[in-house]
Amino acid sequence: MRITLSYTMLTGRIERQLDSEAELVVALRELGGAGASDFSVNLIDAPSAQPAAAPPQLPPPVRQIDPSSQSISLVDARRPDRPIIYVNRGFEFLTGYSRDECMGRNCRFLQGPDTDRSTVDRIRHASHHGEELIVDLLNYRKNGTTFWNRLSLQPVRNATGELTHIIGIQSDITHMLALQETMVEWAMDLGRGSGKGDA
Ligand SMILES: Cc1cc2nc3c(=O)[nH]c(=O)nc-3n(C[C@H](O)[C@H](O)[C@H](O)COP(=O)(O)O)c2cc1C
Repeated sequence: MRITLSYTMLTGRIERQLDSEAELVVALRELGGAGASDFSVNLIDAPSAQPAAAPPQLPPPVRQIDPSSQSISLVDARRPDRPIIYVNRGFEFLTGYSRDECMGRNCRFLQGPDTDRSTVDRIRHASHHGEELIVDLLNYRKNGTTFWNRLSLQPVRNATGELTHIIGIQSDITHMLALQETMVEWAMDLGRGSGKGDA
């Protein structure tokens, strides 16, 4: 996979080739602080016809994360209604929406009738003020099924402190919450001394 990141600096328009989403996230953080603006992200999934050059070695903790197992979204904080300018394969896999279906839209299309409105209010507040936030909320896939999304928001600012982008990491925690619920019931049974399910 090749990612082309274009942006404008005082010296003019610059284009950079990146090899992974982890590199993209790091580059955006650095460039936001260095005064870059007008970002655009272009992703080419097709394998290169050329034999690939040895990829740069990422720090071990970053290498251990398979980017497609994590859902990543990037929104432009300076455009009206914060449109998505990038999602990865993990986002497509988790939500059932293709990248093309997501581009230019606000992420709220993942919400539905049972999404808690007070949680959405917290996200809106954090996103408008450029604050970090981690929340759990019920989201809807394209096929109508629901999942619990642990959403982590990370703001990116430029050298003047202006909020330029927000990175969103979505994690499906549905199974973890179900397991937690079962464990709580089991522990409460133990606490009552019933010992149900105890071998
Ligand atoms: C980077 C980013 C990622 C987001 N990802 C999600 C998401 O996965 N699911 C969701 O329900 N809302 C997500 N949101 C929240 C919505 O885009 C929106 O901010 C929220 O609905 C509050 O605004 P509203 O009241 O105008 O809808 C995300 C927001 C940002 C900035």
